[in-house]
Amino acid sequence: MFTTYKIANFEVENRSVRSATATGTCTLQTGIPEQKFYDFYVSLARGHVGLLIQENAFVAIKGQHGSRRLGIHTDEMIQYHRKANEIMRAANDKIRICCQLTHAGPNGNAENTLQINEATAADFEEVVQQFKEAALRAKKAGYDCVQLHSGHTYLLSQTISDFYNKRTDEYRASDFKLLRDVLEAVRTVDIPVGVKLQCDDYIEGHSMNAASACKIISALKFDFVEVTGGGQGVAKYSTIRAGKDQYYYRHVIQELKAQNLLDKQPVIVTGGFENVEDAQMAFDDGVPLVGYSRKLLRNDQFLIDGDAKKCVRCNQCIISLGQGKTAMCSLNNVE
Ligand SMILES: Cc1cc2nc3c(=O)[nH]c(=O)nc-3n(C[C@H](O)[C@H](O)[C@H](O)COP(=O)(O)O)c2cc1C
Repeated sequence: MFTTYKIANFEVENRSVRSATATGTCTLQTGIPEQKFYDFYVSLARGHVGLLIQENAFVAIKGQHGSRRLGIHTDEMIQYHRKANEIMRAANDKIRICCQLTHAGPNGNAENTLQINEATAADFEEVVQQFKEAALRAKKAGYDCVQLHSGHTYLLSQTISDFYNKRTDEYRASDFKLLRDVLEAVRTVDIPVGVKLQCDDYIEGHSMNAASACKIISALKFDFVEVTGGGQGVAKYSTIRAGKDQYYYRHVIQELKAQNLLDKQPVIVTGGFENVEDAQMAFDDGVPLVGYSRKLLRNDQFLIDGDAKKCVRCNQCIISLGQGKTAMCSLNNVE
């Protein structure tokens, strides 16, 4: 796990990934980083994850979800992203940094959110353009890669799920056209592009599961795929499980393996990894990269300090974020 690994045109220092985690450290409406955003990310960079996927950055105001989230919706935002990248690289010259591009769709804050079953083709084409422009900003700001957020009931993940997407036209769930169009548009920007992919909705009777995720992975060419799932389906299968479940998405990895898709591109699996021993289960299954979210809120130095501080999965971090506060670990006594 402490060996290097190549993703697209860059190399990561090791196999540990910081999975995107909204920190709630930007201005309320406009998504501009505050000082604590920069402080937070410098410390994280010093902890030597190989790939640091920042936090969901909204590509359009209409796609903003929650408060104090990061924006990448205007050219003005480039300077803030560039500054963050520069100070992270000054703290750790091996760090590789990814910008997660998000459109919240129906979960957005705006009054007239984009409803996937009512959207017109023109609405979707506008979204494609917004992702493309955001990717261009990410490139100008100096990121190593971008990641399309197609998980957790955000816009892209709803369009690939037959639970949410009831359309029968070319945007029907089984054709994943919006995700495909966004990928193609972002590809023109010439920056490596990965995806955080919903691989199981856990909703009985609906087909967004490991098999349908495999269809998408087989059909589209991403530079890396991060396996995720859950969301607003069954509570015990939430993306951010409170219990002690480890390695939630092993069944997806097994399906990828069975379909010879595990080696098609680099795969990151995130969800229920607390330490390097847990991660070994995934490495043993042939997964090259393991993602951590809550663990790194608890202890962003755990890869180098002996892992003294345990995350108890109380989920106060996400509760605070939902209340419009900073998503810090309550055990660390910071906000
Ligand atoms: C406070 C908080 C904020 C999160 N924000 C994001 C986000 O911005 N983008 C995303 O894809 N996932 C987000 N997640 C989900 C995590 O990336 C991860 O998929 C999930 O927490 C499971 O991993 P873990 O068991 O290592 O925490 C967030 C999770 C938490 C706890």
